[in-house]
Amino acid sequence: MEIFKIFLIGLLCVGTNVVVLEDDKRALLDLLNNLAHSRSLNWDSDSTTMCNNWTRVTCSEDGSRVIGLRLPGVGFHSHIPANTISRLSALHILSLRSSGISGPFPVNFVNLKNLSLLYLQFNQFSGPLPLDFSVWKSLTIVNLPNNKFNGSIPSSISSLTHLSALNLANNSLSGQIRDLGMHDLQVLDLSNNHLTG
Ligand SMILES: *[C@@H]1O[C@H](CO)[C@@H](O)[C@H](O)[C@H]1NC(C)=O
Ligand SMILES: *[C@@H]1O[C@H](CO)[C@@H](O)[C@H](O)[C@H]1NC(C)=O
Ligand SMILES: *[C@@H]1O[C@H](CO)[C@@H](O)[C@H](O)[C@H]1NC(C)=O
Ligand SMILES: *[C@@H]1O[C@H](CO)[C@@H](O)[C@H](O)[C@H]1NC(C)=O
Repeated sequence: MEIFKIFLIGLLCVGTNVVVLEDDKRALLDLLNNLAHSRSLNWDSDSTTMCNNWTRVTCSEDGSRVIGLRLPGVGFHSHIPANTISRLSALHILSLRSSGISGPFPVNFVNLKNLSLLYLQFNQFSGPLPLDFSVWKSLTIVNLPNNKFNGSIPSSISSLTHLSALNLANNSLSGQIRDLGMHDLQVLDLSNNHLTG
């Protein structure tokens, strides 16, 4: 009886993982349909082996979630397609650098609560940075140079206790350079903005 129970619980866990992974896969396929250079990706919808075989996609060790997406230079038509990447709620690593993406910082990235490494450099993002960085408690590297972000540097950045690199160079940020009060920062580049102080 005990063994049967354990077996059942095991089965339930595996079942849940498959469902969640299936959701992640669907999010990636929705994204694929919106990519300008999708031919360079081998994301085959029939594949049962996304975690082993899809390029630029990394899964968690137990294969239950997608935790890494690296799409440098893959090309978006302009904006990040709504409601695609933001569904990958277990992402740790997101790179969309050098892709010509325009538009604001995607509001629904707040769903990516486990984000640790964020690379959005060399795009055409514009408008303000997110006001509340504290939703991404695990952020370690924030790399946003060479965009057109404007407005001031949000003070909420100083609440990020794991942050080790912050690069906001070559944007249109203005206002006072904040004392971010972070002693663990190994890289801080705010050059080529309109900051004072
Ligand atoms: C994974 O991809 C390789 C080639 O990239 C292929 O040979 C192999 O059959 C694929 N495995 C599965 C299970 O699809
Ligand atoms: C986020 O990370 C924590 C710790 O690594 C983990 O326990 C949690 O399940 C993760 N959340 C998601 C949505 O993957
Ligand atoms: C940021 O740029 C937009 C136009 O892209 C402009 O409407 C807005 O006023 C700017 N904000 C600041 C604070 O300069
Ligand atoms: C900012 O732009 C200059 C030249 O336009 C470049 O040399 C520099 O490497 C850029 N900084 C970063 C952090 O990308």
